[in-house]
Amino acid sequence: MLLVVKSLHISFVVAWFAGLFYLPRIFVNLAMVPEGSTAEEQRLLLMARKLYRFMTPLGILAVALGLWLWFGFDFVGAWLHAKTLLVLFLVVYHLYCGQLLRKFESQQNARNHVWFRFFNEIPVLVLFTVVFLVVLKPF
Ligand code: HEM
Repeated sequence: MLLVVKSLHISFVVAWFAGLFYLPRIFVNLAMVPEGSTAEEQRLLLMARKLYRFMTPLGILAVALGLWLWFGFDFVGAWLHAKTLLVLFLVVYHLYCGQLLRKFESQQNARNHVWFRFFNEIPVLVLFTVVFLVVLKPF
């Protein structure tokens, strides 16, 4: 049973990260849409809306399965606390993406594409740190 839950956990983590990597990339493109190109803007907004709606349940399942692993199979260790803190940061990042999407929808985005390029790299750094933490369990 442990290996089934862990397999599901890793699968939903991967699927969630597809969204965490791609949605900010759409924001980079939205921030570069030339004034007046409404067709392109509407297409990118539609993609962003669908992706956010799709990736939210994936994130919920990835975290729920992680908590099931933690509390269902008696995993212990400071690595798990550090990992959970980073995952909480990812959840805030996910929700902030929802807020940014609403800003684009109401034409109130004030950030440029360079800012979004740096913003896009944050999940990459968190992913590497979490995977090293959970596989190496250094503390
Ligand atoms: C609150 C959220 C989460 C909790 C409580 C949690 C907890 C756990 C636990 C207890 C394991 C089993 C460790 C083992 O078998 O050695 C595990 C495995 C794993 N978790 Fe999570 N996890 C969470 C979210 C995530 C996220 C967001 C990621 C990716 C960034 C992730 C990546 C992994 C990986 C790659 C494994 C497999 C490690 C291995 O087989 O050695 N987890 N998780």
